[in-house]
Amino acid sequence: MCRFAVVKLGGSVVTFKDRFESVDLDSLRFLSVQLSSFKGSGGSLVVVHGGGSFGHVAVSRLLAEKGRLEPGDSSLIQESMFRLALIVLGVLREYNLRPVLHPPHSICYSVDPSSCMFDLIQRDLVLGLTPVTYGDAIPEGGSTRIISGDELAVELALRLNADCLIFVIRAPGVLDENGRVIKLLDSIDKLRVYEIKYMDVTGGIVNKISLALKASKKVREVRIVGLEDLENALNMRDVGTKIKSM
Ligand SMILES: Nc1ncnc2c1ncn2[C@@H]1O[C@H](COP(=O)(O)OP(=O)(O)OP(=O)(O)O)[C@@H](O)[C@H]1O
Ligand SMILES: [Mg+2]
Repeated sequence: MCRFAVVKLGGSVVTFKDRFESVDLDSLRFLSVQLSSFKGSGGSLVVVHGGGSFGHVAVSRLLAEKGRLEPGDSSLIQESMFRLALIVLGVLREYNLRPVLHPPHSICYSVDPSSCMFDLIQRDLVLGLTPVTYGDAIPEGGSTRIISGDELAVELALRLNADCLIFVIRAPGVLDENGRVIKLLDSIDKLRVYEIKYMDVTGGIVNKISLALKASKKVREVRIVGLEDLENALNMRDVGTKIKSM
């Protein structure tokens, strides 16, 4: 079993990406049951969630309207993500995960995740709580930029020394061009990932894989899995796609 896991709940799982600001409560509850069982067995946990039909859609709408983002646009995107974060928090609390929210715009100076301060997340972790953070908007360089949940998850796993980093996505793992789950990915070059296009302003599945590869140089267990396999992944079973950089 993992000792300390950073779990990224994809926005593609906790929301319906094709319907503006709609939460997939069934998925969220199903994931919470699995997280609760992991925590109940003594595991430590940080949860990061993505933007799905909240953040990504808010950004895309603003870009379509104005062509570029200004610092003031942070406000609207942050509010949209805060709404989603509160819903996620509420469900995690129902399942006794004792979640506590750490919004990135309050702990990160810029979208470079190395600028984020994790000391209060670390404090809450030690207290047995479940720190929760998410992809967010940050005013930077005369614009508004997006810090991705995937990047935050990698940075948290590396700096807080997680032994597991699990990305949960809508598909059962990374799929090849025949729709089959690729069991092991050890480099981006060998990648023949069939990419389904979704509304995603932070790079979608390909960027996720390259971030996961980077993390796997230090984090023992890095996996991209479907929602039904989260608990199995936390128990270090061979499910979904294992990411291991050679
Ligand atoms: N080859 C592929 N294998 C697996 N999933 C793929 C593939 N190509 C596209 N996808 C889609 O990419 C999604 C994962 O990346 P994406 O960035 O869209 O979602 P996410 O990271 O869960 O959401 P968010 O960025 O909002 O957190 C999967 O849920 C799937 O729908
Ligand atoms: Mg994404």
